[in-house]
Amino acid sequence: MASSSISRTDFLPLEGTDYIEYLVGNARQAAHFYQSVMGFQPLAYAGPETGQRDLACYVLRQQRITLVLTTPLRSSSSQADHIHRHGDGIRAIALRVTDAAAAWKETTQRGARSYLEPQTLEDADGSVVLSGIHAYGDTVHLFVERKDYHGVFMPGFRAWQRPNYQVPETGLLHVDHCVGNVGWGQMDTWVRFYEEVMGFRNILSFDDTDISTEYSALMSKVMSNGNGYVKFPINEPAEGKKKSQVEEYLDFYSGEGVQHVAMATRDIIHTVRALRSRGLEFLQVPDTYYENLRERVGAIEEDIEPLRELGIMVDRDDEGYLLQIFSKPVEDRPTLFYEIIQRKGARSFGKGNFKALFEALEREQDMRGNL
Ligand code: FE2
Repeated sequence: MASSSISRTDFLPLEGTDYIEYLVGNARQAAHFYQSVMGFQPLAYAGPETGQRDLACYVLRQQRITLVLTTPLRSSSSQADHIHRHGDGIRAIALRVTDAAAAWKETTQRGARSYLEPQTLEDADGSVVLSGIHAYGDTVHLFVERKDYHGVFMPGFRAWQRPNYQVPETGLLHVDHCVGNVGWGQMDTWVRFYEEVMGFRNILSFDDTDISTEYSALMSKVMSNGNGYVKFPINEPAEGKKKSQVEEYLDFYSGEGVQHVAMATRDIIHTVRALRSRGLEFLQVPDTYYENLRERVGAIEEDIEPLRELGIMVDRDDEGYLLQIFSKPVEDRPTLFYEIIQRKGARSFGKGNFKALFEALEREQDMRGNL
């Protein structure tokens, strides 16, 4: 009899994404972008004023999404090397666990390369245990155990407020998924890494027959942890007529890394309108996309007109439907971008939108001279 995955105990129980850490050239200005454009609220700070001599870190939060923006203050540092090589980008996807030492032990015993041995950080507000392993490229996964910590973010940080500059949130709620781009022929390596080292399952796969327009081919496999709180789709470029969008990323990021973070909202029309009015730019699908939308996806609760006006796409699966939209890259290198997603039952990733989306992406890629 085939072994049942139901009876298998989850050796790496995850409670969700704790935070996402970016390494950026100027964290103070990046923090302003995430506040003014994306609607994140200032939360915590660590830097020279708090005794951290070489790094400045700004922590922002919106509902259950926490971002840490870190900048090195000196040129000779691993963080400065990371920025030189990759530009601004995501260094760490930190996952919440109940036991960071066990998470480190379970994953390193299964073959993960250690990034950070378990260490306990303490201050007057309690303690946090951190550990970490290397993932694709220079990306790492941290394991965060918060015990009874009741400080503002983590030991070493102080509260950060901007009383003279306050802007409302934009309706972003939690991280839905984080997508990694890996190199040619590397898909299976990383699928195996998430299966064997982290106990994830491959819940969906797309190949180049699903995801190929005239040019921009890719393959994608969605990895999910046991309870589904953490989902990591992985993309690999595929051969097409011209350069794959994943290859463009790999060229400009100088290697593998996080391609996009999808953030969930309960009201995508409100969220996208707010983000647009504050200056975030989105990929625009052609008007023709909306002409037979109802025939393609059936009845939906939203009016088509605001979806068309904002460029929001819709897709349906067996369980319901979803609404989604993708930003343009948020830095000059064509690397990291965001997805805004509202799920109405659907647990898939918008396969029905791939063609329209990739054609929009290719127009942008062509304008950059990278197609
Ligand atoms: Fe996505």
